[in-house]
Amino acid sequence: MTKTIDPCTLVLFGASGNLSRVKLMPGLFRLDAAGRLPEKMAILSVGRSEVSNEDWQKDIKSMLDAKFKKGYDQNVFNRFIARNHYHANPPSDPNAFNRLKATLGNENTFPQNLAYFLSVRPVDFAPVVSQLASVGLLNEEKYWRRVVIEKPFGTDLPSAQELQASITKHLKESQIYRIDHYLGKSALQNIMLQRFANTILEPIWNKDYIDHVQITNTELLGVGERTQFYDSTGALRDMIQSHILQTLALTAMEQPKDLSPDAIRAEKIKVLEAIRPIPVNEIEKHAFRAQYAAGTINGEKVPGYLEELGNPDSVVETYAALKLFIDNSRWEGVPFYIRTAKRLHEADTRISVRFKKSPLQLGKDGTEQNWLMLGIQPRECIKMEIQSKIPGLDIATRTIQMDAANRHEEDETIDAYEALLLNLMEGDNSLYLHINEVEAQWRLVDPVVKTWAEDRKPIHQYPSGSCDPKESKIIFEKDDQFWRSSIELGGDKSQ
Ligand code: BG6
Repeated sequence: MTKTIDPCTLVLFGASGNLSRVKLMPGLFRLDAAGRLPEKMAILSVGRSEVSNEDWQKDIKSMLDAKFKKGYDQNVFNRFIARNHYHANPPSDPNAFNRLKATLGNENTFPQNLAYFLSVRPVDFAPVVSQLASVGLLNEEKYWRRVVIEKPFGTDLPSAQELQASITKHLKESQIYRIDHYLGKSALQNIMLQRFANTILEPIWNKDYIDHVQITNTELLGVGERTQFYDSTGALRDMIQSHILQTLALTAMEQPKDLSPDAIRAEKIKVLEAIRPIPVNEIEKHAFRAQYAAGTINGEKVPGYLEELGNPDSVVETYAALKLFIDNSRWEGVPFYIRTAKRLHEADTRISVRFKKSPLQLGKDGTEQNWLMLGIQPRECIKMEIQSKIPGLDIATRTIQMDAANRHEEDETIDAYEALLLNLMEGDNSLYLHINEVEAQWRLVDPVVKTWAEDRKPIHQYPSGSCDPKESKIIFEKDDQFWRSSIELGGDKSQ
């Protein structure tokens, strides 16, 4: 269903940064090409340096050329470029926000519904909001005013609460759009739809049938050029605190009363708040961390994390796994094992649900169980493994895999940011985080982050390109539980 979008201006702070160049500008261009931007919609890029409109438009062309190697429609390009303007807000200028107000005051060029996208350093979120407010640019008397805050929203619970307190001096909750780009992925939205738009999954989606759930995100990539950022963040905060806990929330939540933003967020909040806190004196049974060492990825030798960082003493994790329990009647006693890693043997984001053993065990080692897997990336799919008779004279079973692609060749590929930008302009915040979600997520990870930061002993290493470190098995509840190493048939064999 296409929703109408009011004429509006998107004000892009940090417009010359990487996110804007690689995701936001190309995303907006594609929305324009798809006819999803209102005719009266302008984009005002705000940066620190003085750049003429002309040069900025040339720079946009270079961003699009880099992204769309096969070229693009010239008419769309001309329309898109005409929407784009530049405004310099040098940090040294005390009058910067008054000048911004004067620029935006040109109503012929800039529709007065304003969405601000803060793609700036996290320390600048609160000051930018307060300066926008001081010149009246957040005032909603006649027009809507919305602010997107990029991740991370705080670095722990107290800092998230502090940021919240400072921005809510100037903004209502309905004006704040806290981003987690995972929610913009179609495959993530599909978790909820596949669960609730089918009658076959819900009846078995609970402790009576499910042995445990695994939520996995592994990457082949290392930390790349982000060593400094990464070393002050770590895998737990970088991936688990939001992306993976959001995936878990969609996997475990109750059915919302309808698909309105408030109803969906209310259920996600409930389930996140029902996750049992990890006991501080039992962290080693619930949480595991490790770092990638040198190894081989796609046939190429790659250095280890500590070498890349140039600091042999870092205990910051590039692999993090947690065991969580949800204290509600649906999930009582069912472990949720969640993990994320850089430089593992494959790039794979998926949800794997292992069902309980059937009373009839005919397989060779009696461990065959049913798995249902939802592939998020690289392949969007749903796979189910069931036991089936091996044709022949004997009664014996083997595992077969049913595999359905969720994405057909002719389907649109939409980047997560495109969906989120569109929702922002539509005023639909269901794919953005409510503060209660952010707080519940920090509450959960903070004790582990703190314990890990204080424990300076060298941490486990795994060779780049390997499977999960063996020592990570410490978090499993039962001996017959293990990491599902791949979504493919055979990935259920313990490593
Ligand atoms: C980002 C993290 O939020 O998500 C990165 O900071 C990570 O470390 C990235 O690589 C993964 O996103 P995606 O969409 O490529 O799975």
